Amino acid sequence: MSLHERRLTDHELGGNTLWYKDAVIYQLHIKSFLDADGDGIGDLSGLTRKLDYISSLGINTIWLMPFYPSPRRDDGYDISNYKDVSPEYGSVEDFQTFVNAAHARKIRVVIELVVNHTSDEHPWFQRARRARAGSPERDYYVWSDTDDKFAETRIIFVDTEKSNWSWDPVAKSYYWHRFYSHQPDLNYRNPEVVEELLSIMNFWLDKDVDGFRLDAIPHLVEREHTDSENLPETHALLKHIRARLEERHPDVILLAEANLWQEEAREYFGDGDECHMAFHFPLMPRMFMALAKQNARPIKTILRQTNSIPDECQWAIFLRNHDELTLEMVSEAERNFLWETYAADKRARLNLGIRRRLSPLMDQDRRRIELLHMLLFSLPGSPVLYYGDEIGMGDNTDLGDRDGVRTPMQWSDDRNAGFSNAAPHKLALPVIDDPQFSYAAINVAAQDNDPHSLLNWIRQMLALRRRHRAFARGAMRFAKTDDDRVIAYLRTCGEDVILCAANLSSVSLAAKISLPKLADYVPIELAGGTTFPVIGRDSYPLTFQPYAYFWLKLTKAG
Ligand code: GLC
Repeated sequence: MSLHERRLTDHELGGNTLWYKDAVIYQLHIKSFLDADGDGIGDLSGLTRKLDYISSLGINTIWLMPFYPSPRRDDGYDISNYKDVSPEYGSVEDFQTFVNAAHARKIRVVIELVVNHTSDEHPWFQRARRARAGSPERDYYVWSDTDDKFAETRIIFVDTEKSNWSWDPVAKSYYWHRFYSHQPDLNYRNPEVVEELLSIMNFWLDKDVDGFRLDAIPHLVEREHTDSENLPETHALLKHIRARLEERHPDVILLAEANLWQEEAREYFGDGDECHMAFHFPLMPRMFMALAKQNARPIKTILRQTNSIPDECQWAIFLRNHDELTLEMVSEAERNFLWETYAADKRARLNLGIRRRLSPLMDQDRRRIELLHMLLFSLPGSPVLYYGDEIGMGDNTDLGDRDGVRTPMQWSDDRNAGFSNAAPHKLALPVIDDPQFSYAAINVAAQDNDPHSLLNWIRQMLALRRRHRAFARGAMRFAKTDDDRVIAYLRTCGEDVILCAANLSSVSLAAKISLPKLADYVPIELAGGTTFPVIGRDSYPLTFQPYAYFWLKLTKAG
């Protein structure tokens, strides 16, 4: 049996049961990655062909956005069949081929699972609306005779939805939905629904996936006179799911999408018996805030407020993803400030966020793009990169909803950016071809050949990161500086001590870093291997160009 044909053991995958702590995650949409069959839509065969590229980045985990059959009114987050692959992307066999090929390259696969709701075209909903009120079939979803139940629950898609209830003329009843009205919420108070979910998870675990990103989990269960978010019932349900999955698949991981303040998000780790990972939503806008304010405080404050998490758990940290850059976890004043700074053009605003990619947000300023990545790769947590950001892809605010940040990957300056052979009007989404961000200039092939490209810089940084366990596993402690424009912190794992320091401002400056217990240590710059002056009894002076940064390994002198 060849390597491609069998499941690799955890050991062969180079890991142990805590593999996700060392994960560097690449998030992508099959639809927009590579179209192998020329129909204009990316597919599993195309993605499988590009695994060597993903591996060359230094990625060891792929997060696949939804690939299930779907009317795609929310780009696949509206699933109509959980146990199949959308025919445009391929078949279940193609999926298995992809997973095997990823595993052969020691890349894990985490798939998106939309657990809170289905599409209204899902057979469960079609059956429910026709079933007798109170029947088990009707009970798969949440119904009410009035639209004033759960009144304390907020609306999430404020730009499109006026209520969390919609009238169904067939059922002659209102149904509950936290997102679009075509996404009815499942009723997890019904044990049959829980069993359905477990059966779906086991279906994909049998195809060897390594984990699930659990979409929108704070909303799984609702209760009157609460805000219906993060209820104890929801946590109990997640613990139950984890325990049941582990009976057969001890290595599976659950990654929580819980857009919450860190204390509440932390609850999704339970006592190490709920989700293995959770996104750190409040940190993300504060990295952008720190840069805009040219001040380290937003990052320091939020990380100081982030309590420790169970040993076996890990944050997932990110700069951008497929959604709007959410500003839900900041104050109103901060949100207005960030909107003014990064989305002066109101077309870039959506719901409570900004629908732009990283490079346009940074005005294509390589220094600031690098600085944000340096933070992403060295702050505590597993970094998540969004496809295309590694080459500085642009966006298209003329497209609706969040489509502008989901355009085809730019592989080359060939027709359709090398993404597809189809006629341009057939593409899943148009390629970016505005003068500033055109695929003719911004593409993988061009950057591959340029040793100084952003792409190659990211590869180098991830290679450095891999060599030092302190980044993925180490403890983290801020070092005092005499200048708030400089952020400095130590990542430590055994003998591996790394000082990370950056100038968040647009001016050159000299700062002093307080390293009281590190006198006589010698800093060695990680990328170039240059030895810096030894650390003395006084604060350590470092000079920085605008937006410059250092990763310095500290070794004991002598
Ligand atoms: C999550 C997804 C988002 C989707 C929503 C509803 O927030 O990230 O893309 O629209 O859930 O499923």
